[in-house]
Amino acid sequence: MAVKTEIIFNRQVSKRYFHLKVKVPDKQLFPVQAGQFFHIKCSDDQKPLLRRPFSIFRINEEEGTLEFLYLVKGIGTKALALRRPKEKLDILGPLGTSFTMKEESRNILVVARGVGIATLSALAFKAKGENVSCFAIISARSQEDYLVEAELKIAGVEAFFVNDEDGTSNPQCVRLLAETLIKEKKIDGIYTCGSRRLSVLMKQLACQYELFAEIAVEENMGCGIGSCYGCVCNVEEEERVRPVRICMEGPVLPLKKVVFA
Ligand SMILES: Cc1cc2nc3c(=O)[nH]c(=O)nc-3n(C[C@H](O)[C@H](O)[C@H](O)COP(=O)(O)OP(=O)(O)OC[C@H]3O[C@@H](n4cnc5c(N)ncnc54)[C@H](O)[C@@H]3O)c2cc1C
Ligand code: FES
Repeated sequence: MAVKTEIIFNRQVSKRYFHLKVKVPDKQLFPVQAGQFFHIKCSDDQKPLLRRPFSIFRINEEEGTLEFLYLVKGIGTKALALRRPKEKLDILGPLGTSFTMKEESRNILVVARGVGIATLSALAFKAKGENVSCFAIISARSQEDYLVEAELKIAGVEAFFVNDEDGTSNPQCVRLLAETLIKEKKIDGIYTCGSRRLSVLMKQLACQYELFAEIAVEENMGCGIGSCYGCVCNVEEEERVRPVRICMEGPVLPLKKVVFA
């Protein structure tokens, strides 16, 4: 459902990232689940014509507000960053699949790169609500891009930050850290978003340790509602590979089934 929300704030939180909060008119979009996304019309002009997809970062059902965390990248996000409080923002959703929290789950590991933490942060809050311990490996270009450290603390997440500048984010270091956590914290589920390289690594670890695992796939989208086939990725099923539309069957998919090109 497309709804005109009101922008409460749209603030820059670091050199490249913005935090947006909107009020939903009459709670008609709820319930919203961690992992789902909204297709947002970034500008009232014709440019860009297409909406852009953004994961839900915070769900505040009681106050009827939603929050997004986004990276300013191209024409759409640059236009979005110019939007001001009290302006109307057209959002379509909630769309797509949500994360699965298994009933028997006790300790989960979330592994995010960059703005991938937006969608996994919503999952961390869901875990807190269900008394599941959450550990996180957050990868970024530099310390300046470490996002939502304070919020993760509020969610009770034990977070480990790694970055490219000091070399701690390379796959060997992350593998070592993830394996240590899997063994010492008795991890029973892995969730990842934001990096192909980390996703491949997490898929290997999920297979090796036979763990439940999900990924939120980020792919360029056109329509966001299944019509254009612009967002296809492949999943392995039995003995065949099947193309799926991420906006319909995703963005959350079983990590072990996703074929990384
Ligand atoms: C499910 C999902 C959740 C996401 N969640 C987040 C999030 O929480 N935070 C975040 O920062 N990012 C998120 N992303 C990524 C975000 O959607 C992109 O960064 C954003 O779309 C970039 O838009 P842009 O216009 O700034 O960049 P651009 O590079 O200008 O455009 C991005 C893409 O939009 C399409 N596009 C642009 N113009 C045209 C055109 N004229 N014709 C056809 N196609 C065009 C193209 O596919 C293009 O590559 C998510 C992506 C997905 C799929
Ligand atoms: S974006 Fe059009 S089918 Fe998915």
